[in-house]
Amino acid sequence: MRRNQSLCCASSSIHPLFLLSFFLLSSIPGSISSRLVTLGSIEIFNAHEWLPSKPIVYFRCKGENKTILPDVKATDFLYSFKGQESWQPLTELPEKKCKRCGIYEQDSFKSDDVFDEWEMCSDDFVKGKYIHFKEKEFNATFICSDCGGGSGSHNSTTVPDRGEPRKKKNVAMVVVVSLLASILTVIAAVYVYKYWQRRKREQDQLRFLKLFEENDEIEDEIALGHVI
Ligand SMILES: *[C@@H]1O[C@H](CO)[C@@H](O)[C@H](O)[C@H]1NC(C)=O
Ligand SMILES: *[C@@H]1O[C@H](CO)[C@@H](O)[C@H](O)[C@H]1NC(C)=O
Ligand SMILES: *[C@@H]1O[C@H](CO)[C@@H](O)[C@H](O)[C@H]1NC(C)=O
Repeated sequence: MRRNQSLCCASSSIHPLFLLSFFLLSSIPGSISSRLVTLGSIEIFNAHEWLPSKPIVYFRCKGENKTILPDVKATDFLYSFKGQESWQPLTELPEKKCKRCGIYEQDSFKSDDVFDEWEMCSDDFVKGKYIHFKEKEFNATFICSDCGGGSGSHNSTTVPDRGEPRKKKNVAMVVVVSLLASILTVIAAVYVYKYWQRRKREQDQLRFLKLFEENDEIEDEIALGHVI
């Protein structure tokens, strides 16, 4: 009975530990892969609309939804964004493939006007920043802190530059993970050792009690013998 009790309590004290380790391990991969692209700033030089109405400028990648840039109305004005606006981020880039994206102007009468359409690639980003400029159309900066690196096909000399911080990040991640793993192992070992110690103590006590009982019986027999 008593052993059962101690078993239950030991297992319930280990339980949160496993939960914690599960939480830590599951939170790490999520932080690696999110190449979310936000708009840092944009300046348009040309409104395509020939009616004197305010233009509706939007960004869209092929196969995705439009993102209307709600504030961008005037030409030759630099709009800066924090990246946390309600319509951000614009899109998410895969690691290897590029996406065909563009900036357009919604047109109420004919098909939408194109400011420019281009291939947006993860490794076009230098230090998380990418400037796309088209003469007489617009100049936009895009932010993606996790972009860059990988096997660059455009410019071989700048690739090592971008690859270095990623490698360092990975090494740091490995160090952190192994540190956490060893800490968890040590904690688990301490728990197991304590549990083992307690069980041993209980067993010793049981054996001791048994010994007493046996002695009592022998004494009783001796006493009985005396009486007879
Ligand atoms: C695109 O918009 C539609 C409706 O507005 C929504 O149901 C859908 O989830 C959106 N798709 C993406 C990829 O955001
Ligand atoms: C485009 O905008 C960026 C950021 O505002 C600026 O640094 C860059 O000089 C601009 N380029 C042109 C060609 O206007
Ligand atoms: C990188 O490529 C651009 C054109 O894509 C070129 O102008 C530039 O000189 C290249 N940089 C180096 C260091 O080769």
